Amino acid sequence: MTGSTWARPTGIAFGGDYNPEQWPRETWREDVALMREAGVTLVSVGIFAWAMLEPAEGEYDFEWLDELLDLLHAHGIAVDLATPTASPPAWFFATYPESRVVTRDGTIMGFGSRGMASHSSPAYRAAAAGIADALASRYAHHPAVVLWHVHNEYGVPVGEDYSPAAVAAFRAWLQERYGSLDALNAAWGTAFWGQRYGQWEHVGAPAVAPSVVNPAQRLDFARFTDHQLLECYKAERDAIRRHASQPVTTNFMANASLTTDLFAWGREVDVVSNDHYLTAADPEGHIGLALAADLTRSVGHGRPWILMEHSTSAVNWQPRNVAKRPGEMARNSLAHVARGADAVLYFQWRASRSGAEKFHSAMLPHAGTTSRVWREVVELGERLEELADVRGSRVQADVAILWDTESFWAQDLEWRPTVDHAHAERVRAYYERLWRDGITVDFAHPGQDLSGYKLVVAPALYLLRASDAERLTAYVEAGGTLLVSYFSGIVDEHDAVHPGGFGAPLRRVLGLWVEEFCPLRDGESTRLGWELGEPGSLEADVWQEHVVLDGAVPVARFETGPAAGGPAVTRHATGTGTGWYVATRLDVAGLAPVLREVYADAGIALAGHAEDLEVVTRRGEDADYVLAINHGAVDTELDAVGEDLALRTEVGPPVRVPAGSVVALRVDRARRGGETASVAGSSRHR
Ligand code: GAL
Repeated sequence: MTGSTWARPTGIAFGGDYNPEQWPRETWREDVALMREAGVTLVSVGIFAWAMLEPAEGEYDFEWLDELLDLLHAHGIAVDLATPTASPPAWFFATYPESRVVTRDGTIMGFGSRGMASHSSPAYRAAAAGIADALASRYAHHPAVVLWHVHNEYGVPVGEDYSPAAVAAFRAWLQERYGSLDALNAAWGTAFWGQRYGQWEHVGAPAVAPSVVNPAQRLDFARFTDHQLLECYKAERDAIRRHASQPVTTNFMANASLTTDLFAWGREVDVVSNDHYLTAADPEGHIGLALAADLTRSVGHGRPWILMEHSTSAVNWQPRNVAKRPGEMARNSLAHVARGADAVLYFQWRASRSGAEKFHSAMLPHAGTTSRVWREVVELGERLEELADVRGSRVQADVAILWDTESFWAQDLEWRPTVDHAHAERVRAYYERLWRDGITVDFAHPGQDLSGYKLVVAPALYLLRASDAERLTAYVEAGGTLLVSYFSGIVDEHDAVHPGGFGAPLRRVLGLWVEEFCPLRDGESTRLGWELGEPGSLEADVWQEHVVLDGAVPVARFETGPAAGGPAVTRHATGTGTGWYVATRLDVAGLAPVLREVYADAGIALAGHAEDLEVVTRRGEDADYVLAINHGAVDTELDAVGEDLALRTEVGPPVRVPAGSVVALRVDRARRGGETASVAGSSRHR
């Protein structure tokens, strides 16, 4: 039987990937002593150790791992034991050369890296299930093992694979999905460019071709790829479950990799875990971090989750690997905790001397224990002990941003109206607006029940199933508020345009449809006249379109550009709710007046604290935990009262949050009259 969460360690787990196979035994002993000094309670072991565990096919060497797990256990450190299947050994590729991955342009991938195996290869699948089975049967009852970590980041670095095994599996998958060639031809629209298939053997993967390849075929290949990866995960998970009862997870990459549809994967893991790395080029990477954390929580339907990897300082794989500034690591780690993480783990415990990642930061850097990073690691370990009671509490949100990976797959294909429209940019812009307004959001799939949300935002919903459009319409008619951005509701699940004009499935809820897209030239901008008072005029770029009203009221019109005089932002009251539409690209500042009106319709109040202050509440059984993270350079205040978990004393109102620091409060709900929110609005900093 599987548990839904890990039993040990208690409190917020702290640690990281531990790769002792890179080090001699004396170093192991130093490691466990230093782990205790830092307050490490959980390490992930064996992620890339296949060649050491199975040095030749079917010959296992578990002695070193026995010794290691015993050593960790003796020092009170729990283990998240990994299956090493993200990096098969050299013997595997020598024996099964057909298991190598083939890229879209036909290149066969070589050895000497990681992730080189085809997920459709029967030999790979058998070998992966074999090592998972062998590990689980040996360590199911080892007292150190509290969690199983399958593979590593499915979909990265290998997503799509065009090997012969993959092509054969794709064909079988299509036969299962469509039943007949007629159905396949209809779904893919193969009458176009004479692509009609008369025999199944002629259907292949969408390899590189002279011109753009059928987009429905490519969309199905993305679905197939996701399916193959999930099958691999399930086979290993089930092999583990035959022996072991600890929960099983695999580390996601939230929005950093779109190869997997995480809302589906979230149902297959016992506990969601995620890896997150800051985008060094983004000076406000903490907003992207918050987005990733909220998405991670959401794909697990709000359950607490594990931050499986992040970095103590710089990574090594971006063009410019910016080191974290003093205090930044703690702000990052605690922001993940604020947004639902019950474990704070890093890549990796000790910096590697050799190999591709030697310039990546670690908990124990090359500089050793006389370093800033080490001191901050030790301090954070202490800090997390103070937050032990936060474990298990949940974040609640009134707003959902729609996230549909299939829709993003489709939108990202070639020959769209403009190369300047990117779903990730729009999601970030709307998310950032809400973040700056201090509003906590969930992400939601358009097919899920949305009735608990006051506001649903759809920044990029190009592919929209008719049934999901119906659901969105019913949500609004029953009193919800929906905000939709342009280029949404355009195609069905086969990337075929919905009949009835662009956006036709949303016509009833938005009170409009779109006659023609009018993308702007590179660098061109446009002005909108805002009809609801300040700011009077707004700048936008990338997109205009001819909106045909059918009940909606314009609240802004294009003043310049090809759609001048036409609606740019509209509001439609329908049933007891409201549908809003934005027909152009407004930046984060430009979205402020729009969102102000939308919040009013949805009954949502602005948080009212300083914009740089990130405040998130986790709701426990009888207390709320409020984490306030000051990303700014000046001290600020929060209109709240509660027990400061570091000082163990009552503070506020107001609560002072010094520049760059994090304050964690416990607010007893009984004392506060059962209110959820212990944080009141204040206009002090606005
Ligand atoms: C992750 C990966 C780790 C390590 C890390 C470096 O994506 O899972 O093994 O490579 O990146 O940032």
